[in-house]
Amino acid sequence: MQKLIVHGGTRLRGKVNISGSKNSSLPILAATLLTKDDCIIRRVPDLSDTNYMVQILRALGAEVERASGVVQVKAEKIKADAPYDLVRKMRASICVMGPLTGRLHKATVSMPGGCVIGDRPVDLHLKGLEYLGANVKMEGGNIDISASKGLKGTTMNLLGKFGSTVLGTGNVMMAAVLAKGTTIIEGAAAEPEVEDLAHFLIKMGAKIEGAGTTHMIIEGVKELHGVDHTVIPDRIEAGTFLVAGAICGDGVMLRRVIPAHLKNITDTLAASGYEISSTKDTVTIMPAGAPPKGFHLTTRTYPGFPTDMQAQFCALACTIPGLSSVKETIFPQRFMHVPELKRMGANIELDGDTARITGVDSLSGAPVMASDLRASAALVLAALNAKGTTEIHRLYHIDRGYEHLDEKLALLGAEMERAKE
Ligand code: UD1
Repeated sequence: MQKLIVHGGTRLRGKVNISGSKNSSLPILAATLLTKDDCIIRRVPDLSDTNYMVQILRALGAEVERASGVVQVKAEKIKADAPYDLVRKMRASICVMGPLTGRLHKATVSMPGGCVIGDRPVDLHLKGLEYLGANVKMEGGNIDISASKGLKGTTMNLLGKFGSTVLGTGNVMMAAVLAKGTTIIEGAAAEPEVEDLAHFLIKMGAKIEGAGTTHMIIEGVKELHGVDHTVIPDRIEAGTFLVAGAICGDGVMLRRVIPAHLKNITDTLAASGYEISSTKDTVTIMPAGAPPKGFHLTTRTYPGFPTDMQAQFCALACTIPGLSSVKETIFPQRFMHVPELKRMGANIELDGDTARITGVDSLSGAPVMASDLRASAALVLAALNAKGTTEIHRLYHIDRGYEHLDEKLALLGAEMERAKE
């Protein structure tokens, strides 16, 4: 195991290239199971999560080659059982369920593992597949799905207690593209990653309308063909670098981004006083002219403020004078970063789903524990601002979802190194 040692107090300046989206790549890799033809996916980030997905595809029988961001998949002959050992390592492995059911009319997938951010049910995924005519059984930690008569399109509402489901919408969409007739999904997730998956499927020959909205119409087709696709930029990696620029930057430019996908993040930063400017595919953050102001944000489904940026904004709030508040509505227990930030001197009061944060003059370096992907990113950001040295243990959480985060930050001027635990 590795830890990250961050020497706080340096200023960041320069340009950083944003990688392809992790959360787009994972379901898109799974979608290659829908065809026997060759699929080429470009800008797949080099992460442990994308590596797991490649291993799952191989275990299912697909031939997969991977070189410098390009993954080529040929899923000519595949089987329906996803292996427990791989599935338990990553929650997103659940999204092989939709394509396997779509193509083979059956699937056996272990209940998934992944980030520990509260209770993470998959009832909406299963409800969607049942609507399409599949039978679902839970046995011995496995989800067994069968649809011996094939899948049939219908109208369904996938809205849950906490709003729409991103991977659930993807799963149902991937099953419905090969179902008989028309499927209408109400309450679909409108996240850019769902839209990217829909674009991938449309290039394969699927008939999908309404991607990127909460109302999707999918007309089933008999078969799909090969495709060459480039995944969208990672808006959460981009947002994380914007917060780094806010916390300790003297001008940080993100390259290869889609500014529209970052609107809620950049609006929140601008309202705090940071100077934000964009071009077609760059966003630049400059320090605030006057001391930045506290902010009050609530996480929501897209286009609202993303839950995957909540922890990083908690870190930012610790460095801004006055009171900020952060309300989490998607994963109300997602506050594992709070006790660790407190170890660094943060002043945070947690009240149910809301963190009230009063900025402190300075955070101080401390040994801290990474607990999930975005919580870990928040600790790195806080460490950049802290006085002294911070050791972040369990670095593997960061390597799940950020491509070379430490190297990219070092290119901007940060001082940090990896060491063995
Ligand atoms: C995806 C993202 C994750 C992000 C999340 C919300 C990937 C690989 N991961 O996760 O980074 O934080 O979207 O934007 O894309 N829910 C149910 N029943 C279900 C499914 C979900 O109640 O069957 C609830 C969840 O517990 C949560 C909410 O719905 O409260 C949203 O979860 P969901 O959108 O499904 O998250 P993921 O797709 O797993």
